[in-house]
Amino acid sequence: MGKDTLTITDNRTGKTYELPVEHGTIKALDLRQIKTGPEDFGLMTYDPAYTNTASCKSRITFIDGDKGILNYRGYPIEQLAEQSTHLETAYLILNGELPSKQQHDEWVFNITHHTMIHENIKDVLDGFRYDAHPMGMMLAAVGALSTFYPEAKQVRDKAVRRDQVFRLIAKMPTIAAFAYRHAMGLPYAYPDNDLSYCGNFLQMMFKTAGRYKVDPVLERALDVLFILHADHEQNCSTSAMRGVGSSETDPYSATAAAIAALYGPLHGGANEAVLRMLDEIGSKDKVPAFIKECKESGGDVRLMGFGHRVYKNYDPRAKIIKKMADQVFEVTGRNPLLDIALELERIALSDEYFVKRKLYPNVDFYSGLIYQAMKFPVDLFPVLFAIPRVAGWLAQWEEMLEDKDQKIARPRQVYLGHDRRDYVPLESR
Ligand code: ACO
Repeated sequence: MGKDTLTITDNRTGKTYELPVEHGTIKALDLRQIKTGPEDFGLMTYDPAYTNTASCKSRITFIDGDKGILNYRGYPIEQLAEQSTHLETAYLILNGELPSKQQHDEWVFNITHHTMIHENIKDVLDGFRYDAHPMGMMLAAVGALSTFYPEAKQVRDKAVRRDQVFRLIAKMPTIAAFAYRHAMGLPYAYPDNDLSYCGNFLQMMFKTAGRYKVDPVLERALDVLFILHADHEQNCSTSAMRGVGSSETDPYSATAAAIAALYGPLHGGANEAVLRMLDEIGSKDKVPAFIKECKESGGDVRLMGFGHRVYKNYDPRAKIIKKMADQVFEVTGRNPLLDIALELERIALSDEYFVKRKLYPNVDFYSGLIYQAMKFPVDLFPVLFAIPRVAGWLAQWEEMLEDKDQKIARPRQVYLGHDRRDYVPLESR
């Protein structure tokens, strides 16, 4: 049986070092002792985009990208999507265990009773133009919440943290729906405490005159989509939440940063980009030409909704969504863009370019088709990602704050700029 150590020989000096290996990692700081002389800073690793760097120890979400496995707190995503609700899953992600009946009821009560937003937040939203992107509006409104709850700065106080968790999970759907209604010129529809988390969101979005009847199939479909999006370990937006939160800023400001990260088309903006791509392709017969363009562009034109940094096999969330699409289309009617999506998938999965690079549909490939069929406008899609993901962001933020190994995030750099040089006055340049 070998030892849990790594022996490194520095060929620059001929010196040998033995470093401990724990959980399949070495501590980057252990490399600092490897020096060519007293003036040398010590060895570092160079890892742009952190493709091979573990920045934390976590007990929340497990992904095996090669096998296509996603578990929250040990529970497979397939079982949660089948049997749980988004609020129960959010409790699990945040607390580590499934709730008892009493814990569940208290949790749902607390979320339900924090859905109202301060009337002044409406003024923040009203300040935006009618065509403002709802993700920008959400980012601003969530950031603004920090000024309404100054006690949220006490991030080391667990009870204070808990209140902000209730508020953030409860208020995200309200802000999203109000942003949509602002764009549509509709009066804001206030939360209804008699409805479920998703039922309430649907009525805040789509209620017009009279009583809005929530369709149970669409309510459940939205809940499942929220479960699938609730956490995904150390992705770009979660890393933003942890990184910004590590300065001990309040959770609203850190969440605003995470929303900003999610906004990008390579992350949460991808579901929106998929729909725009399908629209642009226009018909099934144009699919081969688009695939050809992707392959020949050298990475400039991408098949949006395909590929993933971690999944090198089918994204398990995409599998669940694809199955669910049929149930939704039975209620809403079939989305005509589905045929283009299916043809893209069929060709890409048998094309050497995509097979060789292990590019499979990710969560965003089919989710947009469902959202569109449910009448959500395309630019609201990333917002529909942010609403459930706030549970994961908050769980990761709390884990970071409780972790004695963590400090303010501060990576190193490899400096390749000028050596010291003297300032030249403007008239002498
Ligand atoms: N279409 C065409 N080619 C692609 C695609 C794609 N969607 N994704 C990757 N490639 C190619 C790249 O051009 C590259 O080719 P090369 O080796 O010839 O240079 C190779 O596959 C590897 O790609 P990378 O960009 O190095 O892979 P990375 O792990 O950095 O990127 C990412 C992952 C960002 C998700 C990428 O696959 C992508 O841009 N996909 C489309 C956007 C998307 O769907 N994002 C959603 C991600 S899931 C989420 O955030 C919820």
